[in-house]
Amino acid sequence: MKQSFYLQLVNPAHPALMIPEDTELLPAHPDYPDILLETKAAKALQALLTRLDAFDKIVPVSGFRTMQEQRMIWKQSMKDNGYLFTRQYVALPGCSEHQTGLAIDLAANIPDIDFICPDFPSSGIYGRFRLLAASYGFILRYPEGKEHITKISEEPWHFRYVGVPYAEEITRRGIVLEEYLSLDERIVS
Ligand code: DAL
Ligand code: ZN
Repeated sequence: MKQSFYLQLVNPAHPALMIPEDTELLPAHPDYPDILLETKAAKALQALLTRLDAFDKIVPVSGFRTMQEQRMIWKQSMKDNGYLFTRQYVALPGCSEHQTGLAIDLAANIPDIDFICPDFPSSGIYGRFRLLAASYGFILRYPEGKEHITKISEEPWHFRYVGVPYAEEITRRGIVLEEYLSLDERIVS
């Protein structure tokens, strides 16, 4: 897979690239065989969960989604939560990072996990996961304070695989992918 695939910008102005047909998708977590990620992203996530011995504490909620799945999630959320909420927390069908296989929503392993806004706390093992995420190639894609750029509300549970050096630099600089890729306001607004 070319590096440009891992670094692709996906937002309302930039639809997700078609996932290449020969892409191998792997389970994000051994106990959740139906929640898939692109190979490198899945291996990186499993390596991080192994390092933290966190397989029973941090669980995947949503990984790769087809366009049709994203459409259904959007439609269901519109029905349940209305447009304002949906626009904040669900990417437009065609423009979700989940369609690339590079995004994963994670949750604390508690009963009744919310599918759209799962609880991923900031302390304890979740905080340690967040601190180590960049060294495994993941960025927190929708941080607080960057909503005007990302067009999505803060999502402490949504991690995006971009690869190690990029994730480390983006995290160290406290910027989002739009800023890293040096897109100007006209393009992201
Ligand atoms: N929740 C993120 C924005 C998505 O639907 O891709
Ligand atoms: Zn997500």
